Amino acid sequence: MIKFCLAFWFFIALVSSEKFRFDNYSLYNVLPKNENEIKLLQELAHNDIEYDFWTEPGPSAEFVNIMASPSQKYNLETLLNLHGIDYKVTIKNIQEIIDKETVKPYTRNSRFMTWDSYYTLRDIENWMSDMAKAHSSIVTEIVGGVSYERRPIKGLKISHGTGRQVIFIESGIHSREWITMATTCYIINELLTSNDEETKAAARDFDWYIFPVTNPDGYVWTHTEDRLWRKNRRPQRGDIGVDLNRNWNNNWLVIGASANPSSNNFAGIGPFSEPETRTLSEYIRSIDNIEMYLTFHSAGQILLIPFGNTTEPLANYHDALNIGRRAMGALSVRYGTQYTSGNIAEAIYHASGSSMDWVKEVLHVPLAYCYEFRDRGQFGHLLPPDQILPNSQEVMDSLIELIHQGKRFGYFNNSDVVKASMLSTSCLVIVLKCFM
Ligand SMILES: *[C@@H]1O[C@H](CO)[C@@H](O)[C@H](O)[C@H]1NC(C)=O
Ligand SMILES: *[C@@H]1O[C@H](CO)[C@@H](O)[C@H](O)[C@H]1NC(C)=O
Ligand SMILES: *[C@@H]1O[C@H](CO)[C@@H](O)[C@H](O)[C@H]1NC(C)=O
Ligand SMILES: [Zn+2]
Repeated sequence: MIKFCLAFWFFIALVSSEKFRFDNYSLYNVLPKNENEIKLLQELAHNDIEYDFWTEPGPSAEFVNIMASPSQKYNLETLLNLHGIDYKVTIKNIQEIIDKETVKPYTRNSRFMTWDSYYTLRDIENWMSDMAKAHSSIVTEIVGGVSYERRPIKGLKISHGTGRQVIFIESGIHSREWITMATTCYIINELLTSNDEETKAAARDFDWYIFPVTNPDGYVWTHTEDRLWRKNRRPQRGDIGVDLNRNWNNNWLVIGASANPSSNNFAGIGPFSEPETRTLSEYIRSIDNIEMYLTFHSAGQILLIPFGNTTEPLANYHDALNIGRRAMGALSVRYGTQYTSGNIAEAIYHASGSSMDWVKEVLHVPLAYCYEFRDRGQFGHLLPPDQILPNSQEVMDSLIELIHQGKRFGYFNNSDVVKASMLSTSCLVIVLKCFM
């Protein structure tokens, strides 16, 4: 009977599913040769909400990813040809790539993700919960906020003791960037299970606050309705969704964000108008001692530092860039993956109201980085599952190097950490003495 019910339920789910299909939608990798061509692409990106730009036509962009529907393809190609702009079609039929994307079910209590598949929100949450139970002396389940549809924003805190500086990871704020959630889970797994000495030290020496899915409504939507959904799911004047990475209260709607609710960069009706950003920012503000803040996005292989409103080198720009560049050197060692680095405005394009700029300006977090993960124009947000592991490994390598280089530049030097580890050593000595 149960089997029959399940089968019936699956049948209903199948026939009633109205998941948006991307048949014959194509991904273009446009290769501008000069400033004029970049200007033209910028106008197209900012005056025309028709095309879905997967990457921004920044002032030094070597490539720009644009998705076009079957009915847009003719116009886009005509325009590009007219201006002599080079391009390649890297995905002819986007639906075909989506169909190949594997989403595996997670087996409860196995604590085992395979790193060759993506997972649903529920599975990521169950896995985190199982990891927390399995490592209960150092892991706490935490809730960083709530979504418009009232889903909790769940994460894990990893802490080997008090008095440590904090590394905060915020991931998946753009729901279609699936590689970010997967890689964040991998990082959690490494911090809890790796045998590598440096990774173990990184886990031990800091308090880690990690949120793999900060836009849970959007993420659910990408699994059930529209694989390429980017924003949250709050209805807005006839449209749906706010770009949660343009909604933070720093230079809100100043530049590189849209006031048009149908734009993918819609900044919302005011700073922190959205429950996700409002609650998460309050949570972040409540944490003392954040030494490094990381936010994960895809794609383009870029490491960004604050700020997005100006190319001026503000705050500790030079330290941050030096540390970041060295970390990207470490990232490239394993598979040769090359990242470029710079502040948001110089490396991508002017964009304001992002989480990174807010934590930098308002909370004065010493080191703040935004990663744009793999790749450079081929698959974009549809990074094939066989790249989950390599992307995750190289990002983990860079994270260790960020800490290492940060220390060389005088960061991560909170004397409490030293005290804390000395304290635990002396406690151990006392305990040992008692037993001897
Ligand atoms: C996609 O394009 C192919 C070849 O151009 C065509 O045969 C097919 O019908 C199209 N599919 C859809 C769903 O429009
Ligand atoms: C850019 O934003 C930063 C941080 O809010 C601010 O200090 C700076 O004055 C701004 N610069 C310009 C040119 O708007
Ligand atoms: C850590 O290093 C920075 C930069 O050199 C310095 O400003 C700060 O006072 C140091 N903090 C501690 C706790 O030593
Ligand atoms: Zn993003």
